[in-house]
Amino acid sequence: MSVELPGPVPPPTGSGESSSAPSRRTFIATSTAVGGAAVAGGVIGGTLLTAPEEATAAEALPSSRVSLTVNGTRRTVTVDNRTSLLDLLREHFELTGSKKGCNAGACGACTVLVDGRRVNSCLTLAVRLEDAEVTTIEGLADGDELHPLQQAFIDEDAFQCGYCTPGQILSGVGCIQEGHTDSPEEIREWMSGNVCRCGCYVKIVRAVEQTAARK
Ligand code: FES
Ligand code: FES
Repeated sequence: MSVELPGPVPPPTGSGESSSAPSRRTFIATSTAVGGAAVAGGVIGGTLLTAPEEATAAEALPSSRVSLTVNGTRRTVTVDNRTSLLDLLREHFELTGSKKGCNAGACGACTVLVDGRRVNSCLTLAVRLEDAEVTTIEGLADGDELHPLQQAFIDEDAFQCGYCTPGQILSGVGCIQEGHTDSPEEIREWMSGNVCRCGCYVKIVRAVEQTAARK
């Protein structure tokens, strides 16, 4: 890319500068012109880019194809490599039961099961889940029959706003499968990654405890 620079600026009369040497005014005019061109065109790695080159770079975001099973249905999709499992579920598969609370691994609202283990889907890259089996809250019931823990949440009135509830239930299912349910204290410890702003913890623990006892 060529940048057109302004022509030499003659020194003011009586300045004492020679016409062949670059004057201070010439230097400032040249620097300003080059700087302006760099800002307008964009600089990446020291190379000036025109607008079309920028567009090409943006379109070339790395993406991958991934095949996985979600709630018993095989799905294949090509996604940006940076896509989280949570965004894959919510934005690509329209499974919005998994909630985005913090998007940083701190609240547990996005908890799902991957190959039977509970994970924060906001911290899990979708492209790493080739052939994985994912279970979300939408896939927990057996037809019209709720999962026992879903039913226990209703029976125990273990939620208020419900925002954390899908993650709490998936985490509770994992907790029961792992066998961390010998006491309310143990359940609290192993469910501590799931935050409930409504403060329903006593009833959540009771729902998990009762479901584990019925197994
Ligand atoms: Fe994933 Fe909060 S949204 S842990
Ligand atoms: Fe409202 Fe848990 S029920 S955040």
